[in-house]
Amino acid sequence: MDLVNLFDYEAVARERLDRNAFDYYFHGANDEVTLRENRAAFDRISLRYRVLAGLTDRDHSTSVLGHDISMPVLAAPTAFHKLAHPDGEIAAVSALGAARTAMILSSLSTVAMEDVVAAATGPVFFQLYIYKDRGLTDELVARAEAAGCAGIALTVDAPVWGRREPDVRNRFSLPDGISIENAAPAGFGGFPEHGEGSGLAEYVASLFDPSIDWDDLEWLAGRTPLPVLIKGVARGDDAVRSLDHGAAAVVVSNHGGRQLDTAPATIDALPEVAAAMDGRGEILLDGGIRRGTDVVKALARGARAVLLGRPILWGLAVDGAAGVTGVLDIMRDELDTAMALCGVSSVGEIDSELL
Ligand code: GLV
Repeated sequence: MDLVNLFDYEAVARERLDRNAFDYYFHGANDEVTLRENRAAFDRISLRYRVLAGLTDRDHSTSVLGHDISMPVLAAPTAFHKLAHPDGEIAAVSALGAARTAMILSSLSTVAMEDVVAAATGPVFFQLYIYKDRGLTDELVARAEAAGCAGIALTVDAPVWGRREPDVRNRFSLPDGISIENAAPAGFGGFPEHGEGSGLAEYVASLFDPSIDWDDLEWLAGRTPLPVLIKGVARGDDAVRSLDHGAAAVVVSNHGGRQLDTAPATIDALPEVAAAMDGRGEILLDGGIRRGTDVVKALARGARAVLLGRPILWGLAVDGAAGVTGVLDIMRDELDTAMALCGVSSVGEIDSELL
């Protein structure tokens, strides 16, 4: 099969992955209304393109929190890359570095963060869940700093785990030989194999702190010299509060439709967040990005860059690092075409006039 767009990668990944892994990556919470809306909302937006712009080429480069990247597309944190390919997060970070863009590494990675950063040639941000064991949480932050991570992305949309019903039915588990490497030294590397429902949901319920609040953000921002990104914000007031409590950037995200079902599509939540932040701090967005035009729409509504979640996993499942490279190449090509057809020569020129 010719892999012409990101949906082709998804189709091939569906054939390659076993049900436990594919269902875990693919699905969202409950009725998956938010999962579908994340995509559908992009399709409802039209681009008011300009003609006769006199361009021969386009500059896709930008920066995120001071790090230069070759395009406004980076990797969202996604868990358990070894379920998709034996090289796991090492394959993903290699491809992202070769594409000269950044990765946000999940806490729930199947390779230890030190090894991922050692294999990286681009910036790696570390995504953090706050464990009830604050010693472990503090240790994860210290390890991210020592490893050379570029920032900490605190996920705030998951005080409890969204109910991904296929994972409940499949009794989602990690196969032998795959574990949560960042937490393994503390004895929290795995979860029950044949539990009552999703093993990951049981892991989260027993180990992650559901009671985190703004003081925890303030603790984190004071604890680390690294910039803190708040991931999972869908409202203007929460975005402003995040900045007031020390965040440097906000990731407009609904966790890929995997947490609160019927939460708004991220692209629809973005204008309120951008208006409230009013130029303070950087805004990233994930959720449903599959096309170059989606990137243009997100930037036109105020994001600095977007994050790709599931498509990175589809790339891994198709062909490890080479598959991720294929996904990133398609996004770059599509972004270039969209910019050319909109009549803009650099990402800085993309603004609300295009909507
Ligand atoms: C992990 O963050 C997940 O959504 O499963």
